[in-house]
Amino acid sequence: MSELNKIVLKILSNGKGILAADESNGTMTKRLDSINVTSNPENRLLFRKTLFSASGMKDFIGGVILYDETINQMSNLKQTIPELISTTGAVPGIKVDAGAKVLAGSTAEKITEGLDGLRERLELYYKLGARFTKWRGVYNISDKYPSKLSIHSNSHALARYSTLVQECGMVPIVEPEVLMDGDHSAETCLKKTSEVIKKCFEELMLNNIDLTGIILKPNMILPGNKCDKGISSEEVAKLTLKCLKESVPSDVPGIAFLSGGQTEIQATENLNLINKYNDTNFIMTYSYGRALQQSALKFWSKDIKNTEGTQKIFNHRANMCTLAAQGKWSAELETK
Ligand code: 13P
Repeated sequence: MSELNKIVLKILSNGKGILAADESNGTMTKRLDSINVTSNPENRLLFRKTLFSASGMKDFIGGVILYDETINQMSNLKQTIPELISTTGAVPGIKVDAGAKVLAGSTAEKITEGLDGLRERLELYYKLGARFTKWRGVYNISDKYPSKLSIHSNSHALARYSTLVQECGMVPIVEPEVLMDGDHSAETCLKKTSEVIKKCFEELMLNNIDLTGIILKPNMILPGNKCDKGISSEEVAKLTLKCLKESVPSDVPGIAFLSGGQTEIQATENLNLINKYNDTNFIMTYSYGRALQQSALKFWSKDIKNTEGTQKIFNHRANMCTLAAQGKWSAELETK
């Protein structure tokens, strides 16, 4: 077993999942503005530290994705944030892309930037304790999109990023996200997501990536958020499995879904059914941002000193997601 594969298994085994706490300062400011909390480095750290020191970290969270600001912060006078995360048994990770910018040649689509100087940044992050990384490529669905150009460009960037990360001894999370925005059907989401993931693996293989040392972070197969025709969680699970079975090489050890704007309960229920029906060798777990933090953040905003109350909510959410990653969740457990 390679060192990279060992890291993957440490992060994803036994129903553990990933806490995606890597919101950029811009995104975090939007989240904090919406709950009337000032967005400054101290408050961003306070909320995140509250989660990272929760008791649920030890049992449910295998990895935490940090943002550049947070990986450089201290949890107290003697302990860095990556050190705090490591004491819980979770692996510290870092978002290394520089965000999605307008793609030249296709005004309505985006290309994720951040390859320039990446090797040097990765070496610094490794020294700070990171053992895995994240890069997110993002795609819109419409009758014209995603275009071949955007699929090609983002897949190429994801592959070049992954090569650099593995060279540096870290596990790349490969995140090609097809957004939920729009009135498209679940069938369209399936078709476009399969196309995007297949192309992504084509590029990864061209770059000689060790597929046993990556984590794929895809969207689930869902109808667009403006689509009239909803589908059941059973259908979401079956379509998602169909997509992954036909587009992900079997060497990939683990898949950790993003929540992508689903409610906490939807993201939990869908993950649970994916695991109930999972007839593949892939570990299927979560790498949620909003679906792990939303309720805790709302509660915290009412009294940012209420560490215990905030942690209780976070512990419950992480517990539910971990049960779902084992196919053992049920709606009744939410109210217990
Ligand atoms: P959400 O779960 O809120 O979609 O965030 C996950 C993530 O890391 C997106 O890049």
